Amino acid sequence: MALEYSDNMPHDEDDASDASSDVTELDANDFPDHFSEREGRLFHSHGSLPYPLPVDSPEQARLNNLHRILRDIVELHYLGPVAEVLCDVRGRQKRVLDLCTGTGSWPMDMARLFPGVKIYGLDIVPIATRRPERHVQFEIHDVTRRSRWNDGAMDFVHARSIDLAVTDYPKLLQEAARLLRPGGLFFSGEIGRYVDFAHGFSSDPAHQAPRAQRFFQVVNHSLQLRHLAPIADKIPSFIQLSRQFTVPTIQTFHIPIGDWHPNTVMRRIGKMYLNALKDFAESLKPMLRETGMTQHDIDNYVNGFIHDIEHVRGLVGVYHTAWARKL
Ligand SMILES: C[S@@+](CC[C@H](N)C(=O)[O-])C[C@H]1O[C@@H](n2cnc3c(N)ncnc32)[C@H](O)[C@@H]1O
Repeated sequence: MALEYSDNMPHDEDDASDASSDVTELDANDFPDHFSEREGRLFHSHGSLPYPLPVDSPEQARLNNLHRILRDIVELHYLGPVAEVLCDVRGRQKRVLDLCTGTGSWPMDMARLFPGVKIYGLDIVPIATRRPERHVQFEIHDVTRRSRWNDGAMDFVHARSIDLAVTDYPKLLQEAARLLRPGGLFFSGEIGRYVDFAHGFSSDPAHQAPRAQRFFQVVNHSLQLRHLAPIADKIPSFIQLSRQFTVPTIQTFHIPIGDWHPNTVMRRIGKMYLNALKDFAESLKPMLRETGMTQHDIDNYVNGFIHDIEHVRGLVGVYHTAWARKL
């Protein structure tokens, strides 16, 4: 049974394989069931799932900032033939599914762009707004499991920043393929868990930003213990190997870190991204402590990382995107 927590319109015929009357609205009293507190931060309480970050207000602010940063870097809320895939077809309700929706910023912005489309956002915690746009519905669902919709019910499946939620991406792709109608669109966007340099700067983070590089090595090692491999650049090959999609279209974007960029807009993005990375490092501290590291070591790694991203000019994050259509 899926849990819905939006305070919105009655359900339409949403092509669910279990009746939509089985979608139960989540009451505010149920919220403690979804959260647990550790070290003064709020986490999901689904014990077996590997997602390591908190889901509290500071983390929600980071997700909302990241949403704006990615929109500004891509200059749109989407890539690929989204307008064509979501165009009105008489007699057919178009549907979008956002996996690991977080605060739901993306579905809400997309709903304003595509008011005739029904948009569903899935997450294991109810942190999206309880008063969404009329055609947006947020539900509690673990995306590593089969979802309630019939085969081919979706026109667009959107998966952004889900690499810390999913240990078996090929399996997730099978479910996305099941949900999509032929010609439907799958999109993946993941920021690589490393730093790089913009063109024209040094090309060697190991020498020019050693503490930033070391921080990501330590973080990736801890994430590997949860079977969360760094997959940002591997998703296109997963898509191809699934044999369920067209050849993926790949695009990568550099996100400046800090205020070194000559372009005013990019400098503004760089300042925002610097803050988002500092928040990210803060949010990772509880996970690092769980691996047995001392507070002293954690502080050293985090402070070294922050020193490098504040002082080394030309550093970028890399946003890997790929989209493909269901065969
Ligand atoms: C980094 S946030 C990404 C949010 C959103 N996709 C975005 O781009 O703004 C990851 C989200 O995945 C959720 N999550 C983690 N494991 C999940 C799972 N197995 N099923 C559904 N959501 C999950 C977390 O609660 C968190 O809100």
